[in-house]
Amino acid sequence: MRAGRFKLCHTLVADVAFVAIATCGAGRFEMLKLDLILVRRTCFPASPFSKIVRQFRRSLFGHNGLPLPDGFCILRQSMRTALISDIHGNELALNAVLDDIHRRGADQTVCLGDVATLGPRPLAVLERLQKLGCACILGNHDEFMFEPSLVADYTRIPVLLEAVAWCRDELLSDAIDFIRSFQGSLKLPLDDRNELLLFHGTPESNVADLLATTAPEVLDAMLAGQQATVMAGGHTHIQMLRQHRGFLLVNPGSVGIPFKEYVGGGPPTVLPHAEYATIESTGGNVSIQLHRVPLDRAALRKAALSVDNPICASLAEMYA
Ligand SMILES: [Fe+2]
Repeated sequence: MRAGRFKLCHTLVADVAFVAIATCGAGRFEMLKLDLILVRRTCFPASPFSKIVRQFRRSLFGHNGLPLPDGFCILRQSMRTALISDIHGNELALNAVLDDIHRRGADQTVCLGDVATLGPRPLAVLERLQKLGCACILGNHDEFMFEPSLVADYTRIPVLLEAVAWCRDELLSDAIDFIRSFQGSLKLPLDDRNELLLFHGTPESNVADLLATTAPEVLDAMLAGQQATVMAGGHTHIQMLRQHRGFLLVNPGSVGIPFKEYVGGGPPTVLPHAEYATIESTGGNVSIQLHRVPLDRAALRKAALSVDNPICASLAEMYA
């Protein structure tokens, strides 16, 4: 069965089919991941995983999906979710991360916000995200695009204010409407027993900093009683994996402007790579990986210097 560049490959051993996702093209065939283990219905009673099947089909092949092979139901499935956040107009970094996600294989990609501002290519980043069709969470910098009065409450640093205004001027109304469609938070199933909660800063705020060092009692208040096996937020630009009262908290870091350390509004040191995370759920077993993708610093510098965004000169210096 084929859909786009993907192919589902079945290997049948007795009554069990192992299904892998592979890419094929130009005579090459590359397996991305083992995704499903199916078993004949006659050997296994009615599938309890119909919800997952629907989501799996949607994530890979669009809303029509592909049918399961005749007579089979799912015995075990692996679901891989890629988390990207804080792209901040850095098209080169976004392309590098999406290439890496494609190479590893993912069933779905979700974006935790702050997509367009500060970097040199806000429109190109928005167009790539729109084509990707991934769920997007509303970051504080996203909200600044259609609620300009919020910026002054967040920062008084002149170059940041000017850079946000520059980005708003670059965006056409369609792009602003796309940003307006982002959600404050979102809960997704990872499998039939685990859920993933997505937000930008915390479930109730896109400007609060959730850190590895945040006191447990403060964190309780920030999470506001929300529950999910994995809770994922961005905003601090610092990768993090933390266990809190049984939940896993993950920050995938920043695609476009990853920080060396927490700065709390002060000037950052930008790291020379792009960051993201993946969550894998296999038969109820959840695992999380933090990734760092190397970038071409000379190309980043050239891109930063190609526009008159007032903050890009500083970014170019950091890439030198
Ligand atoms: Fe950000």
